[in-house]
Amino acid sequence: MITVSSLTKAYKGNTVVNDLNFEVSPGIVTGFLGPNGAGKSTTMRMIVGLDEPTKGTARIDGKAYAEYKRPLEKVGTLLDAKWVHPNRSAAAHLRWVAAANGFSKKRVDEVLGIVGLSDVAGRKAGKFSLGMGQRLGLACALLGDPEVLILDEPVNGLDPEGIRWVRDFVRALAREGRTVLISSHLLSEMAQTADHLIVIGKGRLVANQSTHEFIKSTSEVSTVVRTDHIAEMKAALTEESVAFQEGKDLDGRPTLTIPQQESDWIGALAYSYGLRLRELSEKRPSLEDAYLRMTQEHVEYHASVESDKLEAGKAEAKPGKTEAAAKPGETEAETKPSKPEAAEKAAPKVVPEAAESAGGRHKEKGAKESSEATGNAVRVQKEGDK
Ligand SMILES: Nc1ncnc2c1ncn2[C@@H]1O[C@H](COP(=O)(O)OP(=O)(O)O)[C@@H](O)[C@H]1O
Ligand SMILES: [Mg+2]
Repeated sequence: MITVSSLTKAYKGNTVVNDLNFEVSPGIVTGFLGPNGAGKSTTMRMIVGLDEPTKGTARIDGKAYAEYKRPLEKVGTLLDAKWVHPNRSAAAHLRWVAAANGFSKKRVDEVLGIVGLSDVAGRKAGKFSLGMGQRLGLACALLGDPEVLILDEPVNGLDPEGIRWVRDFVRALAREGRTVLISSHLLSEMAQTADHLIVIGKGRLVANQSTHEFIKSTSEVSTVVRTDHIAEMKAALTEESVAFQEGKDLDGRPTLTIPQQESDWIGALAYSYGLRLRELSEKRPSLEDAYLRMTQEHVEYHASVESDKLEAGKAEAKPGKTEAAAKPGETEAETKPSKPEAAEKAAPKVVPEAAESAGGRHKEKGAKESSEATGNAVRVQKEGDK
């Protein structure tokens, strides 16, 4: 377990890590995510005592890194894979680190095997590809068979095969019960690697939640419908004052995309109108955009948001009743909802006609979210939004 408390670092008055609080748990991969310059490396360096915090503490199982007599047996780090001497072989590099820390030569052979470098152990590290260099860095981190691993951008610059190898590797290490903290500036990569995300922007905590929850909360859902009854489905949506866009899928088949709506409600609506669907799917586009928007906006406007407040914010943003369609006293029906009941679950308060600019503003910032639908321009305003 890594515990970071009020951790702060300022360089000449410029605060680059700002009051960070988080824990990193064993048994899972925790992704440390943020744009370049967010303060990830500085934070990791402070955790292992390479940088002195201006304020706050970082503890590994309750102790500062420097308090461990044999730190490599507690924490393995990959902070800069290029620090290897170019004229040393991989094996020679690992042997001196092993010797300096009292590990056996046998352990060197073991870690070379674990990372798949046994065959090239005698080659000069300076001749290694980026991927081989990262493997060597990981081998070094594993020398002491540590419980905790701190890896700074281990997939940076790797080819897809290398990225996949690192991903599978760190996941396997976590499954063994180790604590794994791995940084990246790439959400798409972290989304596939990490179980939990700690997201920072400009040195501040932006999110601390499961990867699944993070992706859900940062990307707006829309629902795609494909049906043989397009005209009837359009009429149903229009009757319920729900915006939609007509389009085609990759096979050229007509689709309707309903922005800011989950499939549950659209499915119930189609059912209540007796329309058979051939496809009902949720889409969460532009994860990277959502992430960039989040890291930028939260820093500028929600500087001290912590995970619990984010959770609360999400609950607030959940759909309220549809003013136009909901009637008082009605209860939700499990089966075959009547039209108003189905509509009651709808998120937006819909104001027909008042077409504004097309959507895309941040949920928590903008009071209104607009979307323009083909031939059916409406303004969609979420009630719960602040
Ligand atoms: N030794 C240093 N002196 C001054 N500024 C630094 C130093 N190290 C890092 N910084 C600054 O701190 C900020 C965060 O850097 P860093 O922790 O490397 O971010 P990340 O790893 O997220 O890309 C950057 O603006 C960087 O320029
Ligand atoms: Mg960095």
